[in-house]
Amino acid sequence: MVSYKEIKASNALINDTNAPRVAVFVGGTSGIGKFTVTALVATDASVRVYLVGRKSSEEHTRIFIQELHTINPKAEVIWIEGEVALLAETKRVCEVIKSKESHVDLLFLTAGYAPFGTRKETAEGIEVAQSLEYYSRMLFILHLLPLLGEAEAPRVISVLGGGLERTTIDLDDLDLKKPGNFSGIQAQTQYIPMNSMTLEKIANDNTNVTFIHSWPGSVNTGNVRRGLEPNSILAWFIWLILEPLITLFSFSDEESGQRHLFQCTSAAFGGRGVPWHGPPGINSQEQPENGLFLVNRKCSCTPNAKAMHLLREKAQGKIWDHTQEVLRPYL
Ligand SMILES: NC(=O)c1ccc[n+]([C@@H]2O[C@H](COP(=O)([O-])OP(=O)(O)OC[C@H]3O[C@@H](n4cnc5c(N)ncnc54)[C@H](OP(=O)(O)O)[C@@H]3O)[C@@H](O)[C@H]2O)c1
Repeated sequence: MVSYKEIKASNALINDTNAPRVAVFVGGTSGIGKFTVTALVATDASVRVYLVGRKSSEEHTRIFIQELHTINPKAEVIWIEGEVALLAETKRVCEVIKSKESHVDLLFLTAGYAPFGTRKETAEGIEVAQSLEYYSRMLFILHLLPLLGEAEAPRVISVLGGGLERTTIDLDDLDLKKPGNFSGIQAQTQYIPMNSMTLEKIANDNTNVTFIHSWPGSVNTGNVRRGLEPNSILAWFIWLILEPLITLFSFSDEESGQRHLFQCTSAAFGGRGVPWHGPPGINSQEQPENGLFLVNRKCSCTPNAKAMHLLREKAQGKIWDHTQEVLRPYL
């Protein structure tokens, strides 16, 4: 566990030499992504931040960008509109970034929601939350890897459920398309290990890049009711009863942002970045080396060895082959 005091002390050391100078946030228009952008910009470092989001968020994001400029006039924040639930759009957004940058230091991925409701598909035939939390994220990584490879200490963070992998993943129906096979719980059971397995495979092939699959714990962003019809009884119940309860044991917006900024910058994960004098982070293969780190809400590394070992043996190859098939038209 890393205490909040240690987190703040580490983040206070962020400066122009160790900050991610070019950072891409997909999902920085609200929630944990937004809190983390705010924390990064507030370090006063000279950073260039790309905020990728959908058209409906453009207006409030423009106001957010003005606030960021007030916090740190040296920060350059660039809005890129993109409907990233669509893989064709994800590809287009990546092409825009590639045309503007020669390197990327940080790719921070938070778009998504808990899909507690009926199955909804994108125009490309993928369940919307699966596209946001898995396929689109992996596509961003694969497209931006050459730019990450040009950075000094590149890092990719996917915020979902690192360390919570279960082995009950349905390998015969990875996309939960069979009738009756989709539920909010099963979706998480699929998307979390799919993230960890593919991130680990990409990390093994790109040893220069640090990968983190983060489980943020509870942060009251309204995320649990995003997948529901806004005026449904369940959405009202969650808003009136559940969310006030969630708030009681949630991280504050500020602490969540600081904890994720620590994950973006500390040498605790992989050895590069803001100096860290505690024990080195252990990667998903239980080694104190660079690779994929499964990081929990207290910023501890939780390799989840038993489940990860089984998944590696039985699922990783299948997930990778299937992912390649889905993403191939957009690579
Ligand atoms: N908050 C928690 O307690 C918690 C716990 C465990 C895991 N997680 C996971 O961690 C990730 C980040 O969580 P969060 O609480 O920061 O989420 P959030 O605030 O609810 O949303 C994160 C981002 O997802 C985007 N998004 C949502 N639905 C979208 C859609 N249909 N199309 C395009 N973009 C969409 C949002 O864009 P807009 O701003 O345009 O709406 C926002 O930028 C999510 O995958 C979440 O499931 C969260």
